Formats: sequence, C-alpha cells, structure tokens
Amino acid sequence: MSLTDKADTDVAKAPNCLSIWKQGRQGAGLWRSLGRVESGDAADLSSNDYLGLARNPALLRRLESVSKELPMGSGGSRLLGGNHLEHLKLEQMFCRWKAAPAALCFPSGFQANLSVFQTVAKIFTKSACSEKTGPLVFSDARNHASMIDGMRLARLEVEVYAHLDMDDLERKLQKAKLDHPNRSLVIATETVFSMTGLMVPASIGDIAKKHNAVLVADEAHSIGVLGENAEGMFLHADNLILVHPCGKALASAGAVVTASKAFIEALLQEGRGFVYSTGLSPWLARGIQVAAEWIREHKGFRLGFLQELKSVFGIDHPILPVAMGSNHRAQVAVEYLSKQGWDAYSIRYPTVPKGKELLRLSLNPFIDLKKLQKNLAETNSFLKNQGL
Ligand SMILES: Cc1ncc(COP(=O)(O)O)c(C=O)c1O
Repeated sequence: MSLTDKADTDVAKAPNCLSIWKQGRQGAGLWRSLGRVESGDAADLSSNDYLGLARNPALLRRLESVSKELPMGSGGSRLLGGNHLEHLKLEQMFCRWKAAPAALCFPSGFQANLSVFQTVAKIFTKSACSEKTGPLVFSDARNHASMIDGMRLARLEVEVYAHLDMDDLERKLQKAKLDHPNRSLVIATETVFSMTGLMVPASIGDIAKKHNAVLVADEAHSIGVLGENAEGMFLHADNLILVHPCGKALASAGAVVTASKAFIEALLQEGRGFVYSTGLSPWLARGIQVAAEWIREHKGFRLGFLQELKSVFGIDHPILPVAMGSNHRAQVAVEYLSKQGWDAYSIRYPTVPKGKELLRLSLNPFIDLKKLQKNLAETNSFLKNQGL
C-alpha cells in the first residue's frame, strides 16, 4: 500500500473512530458541553469571581483609559517583542504583595503550572558521577489538572499522598529520605482545593522545611480572598514556589509565579509555556493590578463577606460544596434549584472521583445567602421525596 493509499484509508476510518469515541463518552455520561452564555435573571453560582469584581462599576471606571494607553495584545513572546512595562509592574506588585524576591507573569495559570514543573524537573535534578537523579514529587491526590499535567509532561516521578492528609505526606517523605537520600524532594498542593473549598493546613510549609523539601503551592482560589492583605495563604519563604492564577477573585486572567530569584531566572529559560507563548495581554496585566489594589482598599468588604459565609454556612471560603453522590441526583438538584432562580452546575466524574459528584456552589457578596440556605434545604427534601 502506498503512503497516499494509507492516508486515504486512515481518513476513511476516522469518522467511525470518532463516532465510537463519542458514543463511549456519551454512554458513560461524560459528554461535556459549553456553559450557558447568560444565566438570565438566575443568580450565578458557578463563577470564580469570588468578590463579584468582574463587572464592578467602580473598578471598571479605573480601567477606562486602558484601551487608550496600552495595546490589547502583547504582540509576541516576552523574550521577543512582547515584553511590556505593565508586565514588569505586575511582577513588582506581586513581589511586594507576597514579600517575594522575584516574580514572572504568564498568559494563564495552566501554562504557569506546566512551566513550573518543567523547571522543577530541570533544576532539581542532581548529577552523581554520570548518573542523573530527578526530584521526587509528592502530590496531593486531588490536585488540579494543570499541576498533574505539568508533572506528567516533565516526566517527573510522582508519589501521590492522600488528599490533605499531612500524616500520610510525612510518612512518605520520611521513607523517601531513607530510600533516596540523594534526591531532591518537592511537595505539590493547592492551597484551597477548587472543587471543595477545603484548605491545606498551613503547617505544610513547616513540613516542607523540616524535610528539606521545596513546596509548590497553587494559590488560584486563595489569592485575593484569604490572608490579612488578601495575599492568599503563604508569604514567600526560601523553599516556596507559589503559583497565582488570576482568573478567580482577581476577576481577570493570566497568572503570576513568585519564588526565589534563581528559580524565576530558570523558569524564564525552561518554562515552555513562557518561552513559546504570547505574553499576557497588557490590558489584563493592568486589570490584575487594579483589582488587587481595589481588594486591598476594601478590606472590610472582603472580611465582612467571609464572616457572613462562616455564620450562614460555616465555611471559610466562598466555595460551598454540596455532596450529591451520583450524576443523576446532581442533575435533578440543578433543575430544582434552577426553578428557584439559581444557576448552579454539577461537577461530575472524572473531575471528581465516582460517587463524589457534587454541586460546587461558588458564592459572592451579592448572593442572598439566607435565601440560598433555605432553597438548598428545600432541594434536599425534594430529592428525599423522589427517593433520591
Ligand atoms: C487550582 C487551579 N490551578 C490552575 C488553574 C488554571 O488557571 P487558568 O484558568 O488561568 O488557566 C485553575 C483554573 O481552573 C485552578 O483552579
């Protein structure tokens, strides 16, 4: 068979493969579709805009001049013509905010995580004679896909520890120190887990220090929300690499990594999501700074909201997980809540393990928490009455 004939046969087979794949995915209840474009009058319970800033008129007024002052696109990789003053200002702001020696901004959190783990693989590999030993990474069982993919792409050796289980983490670290005394150890975690809002114990920083491990912490859901100055969970320490995706409370997009000068220098060389990608839009680089400034200026507003979340739902973060246990139960709950005027989404396998399906309700200061509480109780009764 000639190469052309083979290519023709492959093309002829492709639609069949595609439909088999599609049926399989649909049959397993895993078919994804885009979210609703507008939720109409329904109250939004899915956005990660935790402080409701994306459309805040006062904040948007501060950004009115941006389109006159700055180009929308950076125009290229920052290593070529795409480096702008707004990137540098954003990085300096993060250095001050996080008390960090250095920072580097990225067009997205996903790219930041891919690049961080690529760099971790390169710079924590030790050479002993002619042999090279890469670092051993301890990763929380429920880490975000971008962290997992970053580790996979970098071909890192990974040991998964039980979700948020610091005892399991320490046991594994201790064993690794005995079995692999010459290897660098790295811990990877989110600070607030995106599906449940659960927080990693801050003691993970001390655990990392005690075992001479580097800690990579993704602050996507904590930056702008937690901490005295909304700085998230961690201020800089020598063994920390902190990733801050800015599409959540900072109401924008892009991400900023803070770390030691040496690590940031290496990230700029080795992070392929940095080197081979168009730099963050200067509009967004400014937007992130303005949002951060607004949040720091309105501390009472943020802390008041967190207090209300605690008193109504007993939670320390705007993510309210409501366990559903099955896709069907979750779907019925979403439909019931929709009739009450709530735009909620269910989170299904494989984003969460089977049986752990949930409604991930993302709250903000403009939501009537008491009304939501009442409607959730009614939803629960309805599900029970349906035998679900
Ligand atoms: C914990 C975490 N890390 C990284 C990302 C990716 O960030 P981005 O949306 O900027 O690519 C997300 C967003 O979904 C996230 O929740």
